[in-house]
Amino acid sequence: MRNVDMRTELGELILRNPVVTSSGTYGFGEEYAPYCPVSILGGITVKGITPLPRLGNPVPRLAETPSGLLNSVGLENPGLVEFRNSYLPKLALLDTAVIVNISGFSPDDYTLLASSFQKKDTGIAALEVNISCPNIKHGGMAFGTNPRSAEEVIEAVKKNTDLPVIAKLSPNVTDIVEMAKAVESGGADIISLINTLLGMSIDIQTQKPLLANKMGGLSGPAVRPVAVRMVYQVYEAVGLPIVGMGGISTWQDAVEFMLAGASAVSIGTVNFVNPLAPVDILNGIEEYCLKKGYRSVREIVGLAHE
Ligand SMILES: Cc1cc2nc3c(=O)[nH]c(=O)nc-3n(C[C@H](O)[C@H](O)[C@H](O)COP(=O)(O)O)c2cc1C
Repeated sequence: MRNVDMRTELGELILRNPVVTSSGTYGFGEEYAPYCPVSILGGITVKGITPLPRLGNPVPRLAETPSGLLNSVGLENPGLVEFRNSYLPKLALLDTAVIVNISGFSPDDYTLLASSFQKKDTGIAALEVNISCPNIKHGGMAFGTNPRSAEEVIEAVKKNTDLPVIAKLSPNVTDIVEMAKAVESGGADIISLINTLLGMSIDIQTQKPLLANKMGGLSGPAVRPVAVRMVYQVYEAVGLPIVGMGGISTWQDAVEFMLAGASAVSIGTVNFVNPLAPVDILNGIEEYCLKKGYRSVREIVGLAHE
Protein backbone atom coordinates (compact mmCIF):
# COMPACT_ATOMS: atom_id res chain seq x y z
CA MET A 1 0.00 0.00 0.00
CA ARG A 2 1.25 3.46 -0.88
CA ASN A 3 1.80 5.89 1.96
CA VAL A 4 1.08 9.07 0.09
CA ASP A 5 -2.12 9.68 -1.86
CA MET A 6 -0.64 10.06 -5.34
CA ARG A 7 -3.87 10.82 -7.20
CA THR A 8 -3.87 14.10 -9.05
CA GLU A 9 -6.77 16.19 -10.31
CA LEU A 10 -6.74 18.05 -13.59
CA GLY A 11 -10.31 19.33 -13.49
CA GLU A 12 -12.50 16.37 -14.35
CA LEU A 13 -9.47 14.33 -15.43
CA ILE A 14 -8.32 12.32 -12.42
CA LEU A 15 -5.04 10.44 -12.81
CA ARG A 16 -3.84 7.70 -10.47
CA ASN A 17 -0.58 9.63 -10.10
CA PRO A 18 0.97 12.78 -11.61
CA VAL A 19 3.47 11.10 -13.98
CA VAL A 20 2.55 10.84 -17.65
CA THR A 21 4.68 10.43 -20.77
CA SER A 22 5.04 13.02 -23.54
CA SER A 23 3.72 12.86 -27.08
CA GLY A 24 6.27 11.76 -29.66
CA THR A 25 8.61 10.20 -27.14
CA TYR A 26 6.53 7.19 -26.17
CA GLY A 27 5.14 5.91 -29.48
CA PHE A 28 1.78 4.25 -28.88
CA GLY A 29 2.78 2.67 -25.57
CA GLU A 30 3.79 -0.69 -27.07
CA GLU A 31 7.48 0.04 -27.58
CA TYR A 32 8.07 0.64 -23.90
CA ALA A 33 5.83 -2.12 -22.53
CA PRO A 34 8.71 -4.62 -22.09
CA TYR A 35 10.65 -2.09 -20.00
CA CYS A 36 8.04 -0.10 -18.14
CA PRO A 37 4.57 -1.44 -17.26
CA VAL A 38 2.23 1.41 -18.23
CA SER A 39 -0.15 0.44 -15.42
CA ILE A 40 2.30 2.10 -13.02
CA LEU A 41 1.96 5.45 -14.79
CA GLY A 42 -0.63 8.19 -14.43
CA GLY A 43 -1.05 8.08 -18.19
CA ILE A 44 0.61 8.02 -21.58
CA THR A 45 0.30 10.54 -24.39
CA VAL A 46 0.43 9.11 -27.89
CA LYS A 47 2.26 10.50 -30.92
CA GLY A 48 0.48 13.42 -32.64
CA ILE A 49 -2.26 12.25 -35.01
CA THR A 50 -3.07 14.18 -38.20
CA PRO A 51 -6.08 13.64 -40.50
CA LEU A 52 -3.94 11.93 -43.17
CA PRO A 53 -0.93 9.61 -42.72
CA ARG A 54 2.46 11.35 -42.74
CA LEU A 55 5.96 10.02 -43.35
CA GLY A 56 7.42 13.04 -41.61
CA ASN A 57 10.46 15.03 -42.69
CA PRO A 58 13.51 13.68 -44.54
CA VAL A 59 16.44 12.33 -42.48
CA PRO A 60 18.64 13.23 -40.69
CA ARG A 61 16.02 14.47 -38.31
CA LEU A 62 17.66 14.01 -34.93
CA ALA A 63 20.77 15.77 -33.63
CA GLU A 64 22.21 15.76 -30.12
CA THR A 65 23.19 19.07 -28.54
CA PRO A 66 24.70 19.84 -25.12
CA SER A 67 22.12 18.50 -22.65
CA GLY A 68 19.51 18.40 -25.37
CA LEU A 69 18.08 16.88 -28.51
CA LEU A 70 17.05 18.60 -31.72
CA ASN A 71 14.34 16.82 -33.67
CA SER A 72 12.54 17.52 -36.90
CA VAL A 73 10.47 14.34 -37.09
CA GLY A 74 7.63 16.31 -38.66
CA LEU A 75 4.64 14.45 -37.23
CA GLU A 76 5.21 11.02 -38.74
CA ASN A 77 2.02 9.11 -37.90
CA PRO A 78 -0.43 6.59 -39.39
CA GLY A 79 -3.24 9.13 -39.85
CA LEU A 80 -6.68 9.30 -38.29
CA VAL A 81 -8.36 6.28 -39.94
CA GLU A 82 -5.50 3.85 -39.35
CA PHE A 83 -5.05 5.15 -35.81
CA ARG A 84 -8.72 4.57 -35.01
CA ASN A 85 -8.83 1.12 -36.64
CA SER A 86 -5.49 -0.38 -35.63
CA TYR A 87 -4.06 1.52 -32.67
CA LEU A 88 -7.01 2.73 -30.61
CA PRO A 89 -8.42 -0.75 -29.85
CA LYS A 90 -5.03 -1.80 -28.39
CA LEU A 91 -4.61 1.46 -26.49
CA ALA A 92 -8.06 1.01 -24.99
CA LEU A 93 -6.87 -2.21 -23.34
CA LEU A 94 -4.01 -0.49 -21.49
CA ASP A 95 -4.47 -0.05 -17.78
CA THR A 96 -3.60 3.63 -17.76
CA ALA A 97 -5.08 6.94 -18.91
CA VAL A 98 -4.51 7.42 -22.64
CA ILE A 99 -4.18 10.98 -23.88
CA VAL A 100 -4.56 11.35 -27.64
CA ASN A 101 -2.46 14.16 -29.14
CA ILE A 102 -3.92 15.78 -32.28
CA SER A 103 -2.31 18.11 -34.80
CA GLY A 104 -3.71 19.90 -37.84
CA PHE A 105 -2.94 22.29 -40.67
CA SER A 106 -6.22 24.20 -40.60
CA PRO A 107 -9.09 24.79 -38.14
CA ASP A 108 -11.10 22.26 -40.21
CA ASP A 109 -8.46 19.60 -39.52
CA TYR A 110 -8.79 20.19 -35.79
CA THR A 111 -12.59 20.05 -36.05
CA LEU A 112 -12.40 16.71 -37.88
CA LEU A 113 -9.92 15.26 -35.40
CA ALA A 114 -11.87 16.45 -32.37
CA SER A 115 -15.17 15.07 -33.64
CA SER A 116 -13.51 11.68 -34.15
CA PHE A 117 -12.71 11.23 -30.44
CA GLN A 118 -15.42 11.11 -27.79
CA LYS A 119 -15.88 9.75 -24.29
CA LYS A 120 -17.66 6.69 -25.67
CA ASP A 121 -14.28 5.64 -27.16
CA THR A 122 -13.43 3.76 -24.00
CA GLY A 123 -9.84 4.15 -23.01
CA ILE A 124 -9.34 7.77 -24.08
CA ALA A 125 -8.95 10.04 -21.10
CA ALA A 126 -8.36 13.39 -22.84
CA LEU A 127 -7.38 15.10 -26.07
CA GLU A 128 -4.15 17.10 -26.15
CA VAL A 129 -4.22 19.71 -28.87
CA ASN A 130 -0.81 20.35 -30.37
CA ILE A 131 -0.86 23.93 -31.59
CA SER A 132 2.86 24.14 -31.10
CA CYS A 133 4.77 21.83 -33.46
CA PRO A 134 7.81 23.67 -34.84
CA ASN A 135 8.59 21.02 -37.44
CA ILE A 136 5.97 21.48 -40.11
CA LYS A 137 5.83 24.35 -42.52
CA HIS A 138 2.20 25.40 -42.23
CA GLY A 139 -0.03 24.96 -39.22
CA GLY A 140 1.14 23.56 -35.91
CA MET A 141 3.20 26.28 -34.35
CA ALA A 142 1.54 28.92 -36.55
CA PHE A 143 -1.61 28.45 -34.43
CA GLY A 144 0.35 28.31 -31.22
CA THR A 145 2.13 31.62 -31.64
CA ASN A 146 -0.92 33.75 -32.43
CA PRO A 147 -3.38 34.20 -29.54
CA ARG A 148 -6.42 34.68 -31.79
CA SER A 149 -5.72 31.52 -33.84
CA ALA A 150 -4.94 29.53 -30.70
CA GLU A 151 -8.26 30.54 -29.18
CA GLU A 152 -10.14 29.65 -32.39
CA VAL A 153 -8.54 26.23 -32.69
CA ILE A 154 -9.29 25.36 -29.05
CA GLU A 155 -12.85 26.63 -29.46
CA ALA A 156 -13.31 24.39 -32.51
CA VAL A 157 -11.94 21.35 -30.65
CA LYS A 158 -14.04 22.03 -27.56
CA LYS A 159 -17.24 22.30 -29.62
CA ASN A 160 -16.62 18.94 -31.27
CA THR A 161 -15.58 16.62 -28.46
CA ASP A 162 -16.90 15.82 -25.01
CA LEU A 163 -13.44 14.75 -23.81
CA PRO A 164 -11.37 17.03 -21.55
CA VAL A 165 -9.29 19.31 -23.81
CA ILE A 166 -5.63 19.96 -23.06
CA ALA A 167 -4.10 22.90 -24.96
CA LYS A 168 -0.37 22.33 -25.52
CA LEU A 169 1.48 25.61 -25.69
CA SER A 170 4.54 26.58 -27.68
CA PRO A 171 7.45 28.22 -25.86
CA ASN A 172 8.35 30.05 -29.08
CA VAL A 173 6.46 33.19 -28.06
CA THR A 174 7.31 36.42 -26.29
CA ASP A 175 4.43 36.25 -23.83
CA ILE A 176 3.36 32.78 -22.67
CA VAL A 177 0.69 34.26 -20.38
CA GLU A 178 -1.08 35.85 -23.35
CA MET A 179 -1.22 32.44 -25.04
CA ALA A 180 -2.46 30.73 -21.88
CA LYS A 181 -5.24 33.30 -21.49
CA ALA A 182 -6.20 32.84 -25.15
CA VAL A 183 -6.65 29.07 -24.82
CA GLU A 184 -8.51 29.58 -21.55
CA SER A 185 -10.94 31.87 -23.43
CA GLY A 186 -11.23 29.18 -26.12
CA GLY A 187 -12.51 26.78 -23.46
CA ALA A 188 -9.44 24.64 -22.72
CA ASP A 189 -9.85 22.49 -19.62
CA ILE A 190 -6.14 21.94 -19.01
CA ILE A 191 -2.90 23.53 -20.26
CA SER A 192 0.23 21.55 -21.05
CA LEU A 193 3.59 23.17 -21.64
CA ILE A 194 6.14 23.30 -23.08
CA ASN A 195 6.59 21.91 -26.58
CA THR A 196 10.07 22.15 -28.08
CA LEU A 197 12.05 25.35 -28.65
CA LEU A 198 12.94 26.13 -32.26
CA GLY A 199 16.68 25.56 -32.75
CA MET A 200 19.40 24.70 -35.24
CA SER A 201 22.82 23.02 -35.45
CA ILE A 202 25.42 23.36 -38.22
CA ASP A 203 28.05 20.72 -39.04
CA ILE A 204 31.31 22.66 -39.26
CA GLN A 205 32.92 20.03 -41.55
CA THR A 206 30.19 19.94 -44.20
CA GLN A 207 29.32 23.54 -43.34
CA LYS A 208 25.64 22.69 -43.69
CA PRO A 209 22.75 22.32 -41.20
CA LEU A 210 22.78 18.95 -39.42
CA LEU A 211 19.06 18.42 -39.88
CA ALA A 212 17.69 17.90 -43.39
CA ASN A 213 14.86 20.22 -42.40
CA LYS A 214 17.52 22.76 -41.29
CA MET A 215 15.68 23.68 -38.09
CA GLY A 216 14.17 21.52 -35.38
CA GLY A 217 12.71 21.49 -31.90
CA LEU A 218 15.04 21.47 -28.89
CA SER A 219 14.07 19.26 -25.94
CA GLY A 220 15.84 17.69 -22.96
CA PRO A 221 17.50 19.17 -19.85
CA ALA A 222 18.70 22.25 -21.77
CA VAL A 223 15.14 23.61 -21.96
CA ARG A 224 14.10 22.92 -18.37
CA PRO A 225 14.62 26.37 -16.81
CA VAL A 226 12.60 27.94 -19.63
CA ALA A 227 9.79 25.44 -19.03
CA VAL A 228 9.81 25.94 -15.25
CA ARG A 229 9.61 29.70 -15.74
CA MET A 230 6.65 29.33 -18.10
CA VAL A 231 4.77 26.94 -15.79
CA TYR A 232 5.33 29.40 -12.93
CA GLN A 233 4.03 32.35 -14.98
CA VAL A 234 0.98 30.50 -16.31
CA TYR A 235 0.07 29.22 -12.82
CA GLU A 236 0.00 32.81 -11.54
CA ALA A 237 -2.11 34.12 -14.41
CA VAL A 238 -4.60 31.40 -15.29
CA GLY A 239 -6.78 29.16 -13.13
CA LEU A 240 -6.50 26.02 -15.26
CA PRO A 241 -4.64 22.89 -14.14
CA ILE A 242 -1.21 22.48 -15.72
CA VAL A 243 0.73 19.51 -17.09
CA GLY A 244 4.38 20.59 -16.91
CA MET A 245 7.09 19.25 -19.19
CA GLY A 246 10.41 20.16 -20.74
CA GLY A 247 13.63 18.43 -19.80
CA ILE A 248 12.36 16.47 -16.80
CA SER A 249 14.94 13.72 -16.21
CA THR A 250 14.88 13.10 -12.44
CA TRP A 251 12.36 13.19 -9.62
CA GLN A 252 13.97 16.41 -8.40
CA ASP A 253 13.15 18.03 -11.77
CA ALA A 254 9.57 16.79 -11.51
CA VAL A 255 9.15 18.18 -7.98
CA GLU A 256 10.49 21.54 -9.25
CA PHE A 257 7.70 21.64 -11.88
CA MET A 258 5.06 20.76 -9.30
CA LEU A 259 6.26 23.46 -6.93
CA ALA A 260 6.06 25.89 -9.88
CA GLY A 261 2.40 24.94 -10.32
CA ALA A 262 2.12 21.74 -12.38
CA SER A 263 -0.51 19.26 -11.16
CA ALA A 264 1.06 16.58 -13.36
CA VAL A 265 4.43 16.17 -15.06
CA SER A 266 5.12 14.72 -18.48
CA ILE A 267 8.28 12.78 -19.22
CA GLY A 268 9.72 13.05 -22.73
CA THR A 269 13.27 12.92 -24.09
CA VAL A 270 14.72 11.12 -21.07
CA ASN A 271 12.74 8.01 -22.09
CA PHE A 272 15.23 7.59 -24.95
CA VAL A 273 18.03 7.35 -22.39
CA ASN A 274 16.27 5.50 -19.58
CA PRO A 275 12.93 3.82 -20.33
CA LEU A 276 12.39 3.38 -16.60
CA ALA A 277 12.77 7.09 -15.87
CA PRO A 278 9.00 7.66 -15.38
CA VAL A 279 8.93 4.96 -12.67
CA ASP A 280 12.04 6.34 -10.93
CA ILE A 281 10.51 9.81 -11.07
CA LEU A 282 7.19 8.60 -9.65
CA ASN A 283 8.92 6.80 -6.76
CA GLY A 284 11.08 9.85 -6.07
CA ILE A 285 8.09 12.21 -5.90
CA GLU A 286 6.34 9.88 -3.45
CA GLU A 287 9.46 9.59 -1.29
CA TYR A 288 9.84 13.39 -1.27
CA CYS A 289 6.24 13.86 -0.12
CA LEU A 290 6.71 11.20 2.54
CA LYS A 291 9.90 12.77 3.90
CA LYS A 292 8.35 16.24 3.93
CA GLY A 293 5.25 14.97 5.69
CA TYR A 294 2.63 15.46 2.96
CA ARG A 295 -0.24 12.99 2.84
CA SER A 296 -1.22 13.88 -0.72
CA VAL A 297 0.93 14.82 -3.71
CA ARG A 298 -1.62 17.54 -4.48
CA GLU A 299 -0.34 19.49 -1.48
CA ILE A 300 2.94 20.39 -3.18
CA VAL A 301 1.39 21.94 -6.30
CA GLY A 302 2.27 25.64 -6.55
CA LEU A 303 4.18 25.85 -3.24
CA ALA A 304 6.91 28.00 -4.82
CA HIS A 305 4.43 30.88 -5.08
CA GLU A 306 3.98 33.53 -2.39
C1 LIG B 1 11.24 13.08 -31.08
C2 LIG B 1 10.15 13.96 -30.52
C3 LIG B 1 8.88 13.95 -31.11
C4 LIG B 1 7.86 14.76 -30.61
N1 LIG B 1 6.61 14.71 -31.18
C5 LIG B 1 5.59 15.45 -30.64
C6 LIG B 1 4.25 15.35 -31.17
O1 LIG B 1 3.96 14.58 -32.08
N2 LIG B 1 3.29 16.15 -30.61
C7 LIG B 1 3.56 16.99 -29.56
O2 LIG B 1 2.67 17.69 -29.09
N3 LIG B 1 4.82 17.08 -29.03
C8 LIG B 1 5.82 16.34 -29.55
N4 LIG B 1 7.08 16.42 -29.00
C9 LIG B 1 7.34 17.32 -27.85
C10 LIG B 1 7.30 16.59 -26.51
O3 LIG B 1 6.03 16.00 -26.29
C11 LIG B 1 7.65 17.55 -25.35
O4 LIG B 1 6.70 18.59 -25.32
C12 LIG B 1 9.03 18.18 -25.48
O5 LIG B 1 9.95 17.25 -26.02
C13 LIG B 1 9.58 18.72 -24.16
O6 LIG B 1 9.73 17.71 -23.19
P1 LIG B 1 11.14 16.89 -22.96
O7 LIG B 1 12.23 17.91 -22.91
O8 LIG B 1 10.94 16.14 -21.69
O9 LIG B 1 11.27 15.96 -24.14
C14 LIG B 1 8.12 15.61 -29.49
C15 LIG B 1 9.40 15.62 -28.91
C16 LIG B 1 10.42 14.80 -29.39
C17 LIG B 1 11.77 14.82 -28.73
